[in-house]
Amino acid sequence: MRAVYVETYGCQMNVADTELLLGHLGRGGYARTDDPAAADVILLNTCAIRERAEERVLGRLGELQHHKARRPEIQLGLAGCMAQHLRDKLTTRAPFVDFVVGPDSYRRLPEMLAQGDAFVDVRLGRDETYADIAPARAAGVRAWLSIMRGCDKFCTFCVVPYVRGRERSLPANAVLDQVRAVAANGYREVVFLGQTVNAYRDGEVDFGELLRRTAAIDGIVRIRFTSPHPADMTESVIAALAECKKVCPQIHLPLQSGSDTVLARMERGYTRDEYLRLVERLRAAKPGLALSTDIIVGFPGESDADFEATHELMRTVRYDSAFMFKYSPREHTKSFGWPETVSDAEKGQRLQAIIALQEQTSTAINRALVGATFDVLVEGPARRSPGWLAGKTPHFKTTVFSADGAQAGDTVAVRVTSANGHTLVGESV
Ligand code: 5AD
Ligand code: SF4
Repeated sequence: MRAVYVETYGCQMNVADTELLLGHLGRGGYARTDDPAAADVILLNTCAIRERAEERVLGRLGELQHHKARRPEIQLGLAGCMAQHLRDKLTTRAPFVDFVVGPDSYRRLPEMLAQGDAFVDVRLGRDETYADIAPARAAGVRAWLSIMRGCDKFCTFCVVPYVRGRERSLPANAVLDQVRAVAANGYREVVFLGQTVNAYRDGEVDFGELLRRTAAIDGIVRIRFTSPHPADMTESVIAALAECKKVCPQIHLPLQSGSDTVLARMERGYTRDEYLRLVERLRAAKPGLALSTDIIVGFPGESDADFEATHELMRTVRYDSAFMFKYSPREHTKSFGWPETVSDAEKGQRLQAIIALQEQTSTAINRALVGATFDVLVEGPARRSPGWLAGKTPHFKTTVFSADGAQAGDTVAVRVTSANGHTLVGESV
C-alpha cells in the first residue's frame, strides 16, 4: 500500500470529488493518511473561484515543499479547479509540483502516478461523470452525491465553466443506485450536488422527477440539494418540492446582485422582479422555507444605487443566511478585462454593510424560533458543549441540545430555548 494525504479547498463539490479520488485511489492501492510526513503522495484539491483561494493554495504548497526536501520521492500535486485554471503556469509559480490534474482527469490518476514522471493532465471531457466510480464517503448521517458536473451558464464573472467544462448529468439509474447504497450503509440524508444542480437531466428524468424517485427510496429521510440556479427552477421542480415531504424546506438560491443593470451585465438570466417572484413561488410550495444566497459586491460598474438595490432586496427577502464576496476578476472570464470601477476600500465597505444586515436578519429569524419544536436529525456529540448533542433542523439550522440516549441518525423533537444568528439551542421534548 502507498499512502496518500489530501487537503480539500473550496466548495462541497470539491469535498465530494476528494471522496471520489480517495475511492478511486483506494482501489489503486492507496490508503489515506492524515499525516503529510508519512505520505507517498500529497494532493491538494483546489478551488479557483476567487484569487484569494488560489493564493492560499500557493502558500500551502510552499509549506508542504519541505516534505519533498526530506524525501524527494514524494509526489506533490494539485487537483481541481485551480489546477485546471493555472495549468502550465504552475510549473513557473510552483516548479516543485510533480503533477497537475484537472477535474475531468481523475480516472487516469493512479496510472499516471505509477509511471512516476511529472505530468500535467487538464483535458476536459464532455462526458466524464465518474458514474461508475464509488467514492470513499466520510462516515456520518449525511451523504453528498454529485449528480451533475460542469456549467453552461457562463456568468460573466465566473471561472467555473472554464475549469469544470460543459454541463453533464449522471444517468438517473446511477444516481438512484448510489442513493440506495448510501441508505443501505446507514446514511439518513442525501445532498445532491451540482454547479447548477436543478439543470439535471437524463432523458425524460429532469431534476423534479429525480427528486420524486429519490423520495420513494426507503431509509433516506431527508433530501437536500445545492446549488440550484434561479433560471432552472422550472414548474416541474417547484411541483416536486411541494409534493415531496422528504425534500427539506431549505434552498440556497444565489442572487449575486439585486440590481437589474448589474444582473444583465453578469448575464445571470433573470431580473430582480423575476427572482422575487420565484422566491414567492418557492415559499408557497414549501411553507416555512429557509433561504440562503450568494452575493457579490463591487462588480465592474456597480454604482451606489446598484448596491442599494442589493441591500434593499436582501431586506425584502430576509435570507436566513448569506455568503457574501468582493468581486475578484478571474482570467478567462468575460468580465476579466472590464475596468474595475469600485475601489477595494469601497468593496470592503459594501461588504461590511451587507454582512451587518445579514447578521441582524439571521439573529431576528432564529430568535423568532424560540419556543417552537423541530425534528432534529442527530449528527453526534456537540463539539463545544460536552454532554450535548448536535444536529440540523429540516431548515438546516445547526441545533445544540440535551437529550438522553439519542444517537447519531435518530430524529429527535427539540424545543428551541435560545438562539443566535448561527445556532439554535434546545432540549428534547
Ligand atoms: N468574484 C467573487 N465572487 C465570485 N463568485 C463566483 N465568481 C466570483 C468572482 N469572480 C461567487 C458567486 C458564486 C459563489 C460560489 O462564488 O457568488 O455564487
Ligand atoms: Fe458560475 Fe454562473 Fe455557472 Fe454558477 S451558474 S457556476 S456562477 S457560471
